Amino acid sequence: MKGIVLAGGSGTRLHPVTLPMSKQLLPVYDKPMVYYPLSVLMLAGIRDVLVVSTPATVPALRVLLGDGSALGLDISYAEQREPRGIADAFLVGERFVDGEECALILGDNLFDGPDLPGLLAEARRRVDGCVLFGYEVDDPRRYAVGELDERGNLLSLEEKPARPRSRRAVTGLYLYNKEVVDIAKEVRPSARGELEITDVNRVYLAEGKASLVSMGSEYQWCDTGTCDSLLAAAEYVREAQRSNGRRIACIEETALRMGFVDAETCYKRGLEMRHSEYGRYVMDVARSWSDSRQR
Ligand code: DAU
Repeated sequence: MKGIVLAGGSGTRLHPVTLPMSKQLLPVYDKPMVYYPLSVLMLAGIRDVLVVSTPATVPALRVLLGDGSALGLDISYAEQREPRGIADAFLVGERFVDGEECALILGDNLFDGPDLPGLLAEARRRVDGCVLFGYEVDDPRRYAVGELDERGNLLSLEEKPARPRSRRAVTGLYLYNKEVVDIAKEVRPSARGELEITDVNRVYLAEGKASLVSMGSEYQWCDTGTCDSLLAAAEYVREAQRSNGRRIACIEETALRMGFVDAETCYKRGLEMRHSEYGRYVMDVARSWSDSRQR
């Protein structure tokens, strides 16, 4: 399975901060926002990644992530010239997807929880159409909303409904079968002039091929599109890291634990950033990993 991180958009809710660049480069506590969605794709075992962003931001993302080899990934980049909608990622990325199964994750989504690798592995096994991930929120009107029957079957999907049928928001992580590019090409722009990902998902739903995995309260999900949600996400990360001593979305650690790189490669990445706590953490992780292997 391939993976796309959609990291463009105009970020108008964060102006003036996002006037010169996309928000996905902003820090969420100790690391750039884009690390969080990228780490989720890695935890799903995905190594072939396309990062889609604005022409102004792609060069900076390249500086940050390079070709991915330091993380055992193959990262390529594509420009989205205008924010034409989330589903447009599949038109921009058509050549990259190349008829394979593909995950999409929004560049401002943060996930954390006790067993993301297990949840994602299980979901990957179920991709015979599209798999969505639901999370209960207080204000579902800000999101796409999924309604399930008592057996957990997906009944309806609505984008930012005025009267939500449930409190289950559809998060910005989507797994698709090989048909996704063809389906995205058929979708017409919405009233706000965008190719909506919910319209793609509704095509799958109409074919009886959409499912929604509910993430329980032991998981944390947020998008970080406003000043308040950005600050809340940063506070969550700081507290969670402080209480369990492990960093969330440390992509170097993820690469090591997933077996994408060896300890030496991980250590080198940490060494390049040794003046930060983050860099020293990466070095420590690599050291204790190789110590535990030698024992
Ligand atoms: O976060 C989950 C929600 O994300 C879903 O529940 C909604 O169904 C989905 O439409 C989306 O809603 P948002 O209002 O958060 O979408 P937004 O326009 O803010 O875009 C989400 C991310 O995608 C953001 O990081 C910017 C990026 N983006 C967006 C568009 C429309 C692009 O890179 N290009 C685009 O054309």
